Amino acid sequence: MMTDPPERKTAVITGSGGGIGKACACRFKEAGYDVILLDLNLEAAEKTAEVIGVGKDHCFKTDVSKEESVRETVEAVLERFGHIDALVNAAGIPGGSGRIENYPVRSAEKVLAVNVMGTFLMMQAVLPSMQERGKGAIVNFGSVSGHRGYQYECIYGASKAAVIELTRTAGNENGANGVHINSVSPGWVNTEMMKQTIEGYHGAGYCYDNVRYGPMKRAAAPSEIANVVCFLCSDEASYINGSDILIDGGKITD
Ligand SMILES: NC(=O)c1ccc[n+]([C@@H]2O[C@H](COP(=O)([O-])OP(=O)(O)OC[C@H]3O[C@@H](n4cnc5c(N)ncnc54)[C@H](O)[C@@H]3O)[C@@H](O)[C@H]2O)c1
Repeated sequence: MMTDPPERKTAVITGSGGGIGKACACRFKEAGYDVILLDLNLEAAEKTAEVIGVGKDHCFKTDVSKEESVRETVEAVLERFGHIDALVNAAGIPGGSGRIENYPVRSAEKVLAVNVMGTFLMMQAVLPSMQERGKGAIVNFGSVSGHRGYQYECIYGASKAAVIELTRTAGNENGANGVHINSVSPGWVNTEMMKQTIEGYHGAGYCYDNVRYGPMKRAAAPSEIANVVCFLCSDEASYINGSDILIDGGKITD
């Protein structure tokens, strides 16, 4: 008797044109997923598509901070690919560096809109389809900045603390229904964002404590973050839910 081939697993990755998102795309492809690439910068997502060998039909220009853009993208993904097994919310912005009393309000609003609302909107749009299937995994992006009050990172740190808390709540609301949700909190990772942030410190006249790498004396490679993200979406991680995993080489304890 003929049986249907097993359904192909799909992973949706936001910020997939950036350093960590691209590394996640490579790792999920290697793990056998059909990888769907979202980014505000479509060209960057298409470059990632080329690297992992998927077509442009796997790429979506999405602004995660905009409800309509998120809803339209998720509807199109579900229509084209049928279901979503893993959602990786890697899109994020650092904002500028500065003390609270000097921090421009509009910049603060933008950081919160992308990092916090972006994560919230993506989960809100994707969760119902995962709940209906009774399976799925979501990984959000916190940061060591969401655990420690690093100077000059007031709004970025607040946005990442909010993502970690949002993840805890999402894990608590789900889990029993087969959907598990976690976050990762990297220390320094060698990407464009790290470069921008360090330049921002220099611009603000501050360049020492925040730039310390911790005991490992180096930044992480994006692939070292992607490995953990992919593990968190795998069956091996089925009992990890509502957790935040520090991937900082020990920086936070240094
Ligand atoms: N690099 C680090 O040192 C570090 C440390 C801790 C946490 N993180 C977090 O990891 C995640 C990935 O960071 P990265 O270093 O790869 O950054 P990156 O700047 O290399 O990539 C970020 C990507 O997000 C996209 N993006 C920005 N705004 C968007 C929006 N509104 N909608 C959709 N896409 C948008 C950008 O176009 C870019 O491709 C972020 O959430 C970041 O806060 C990074």
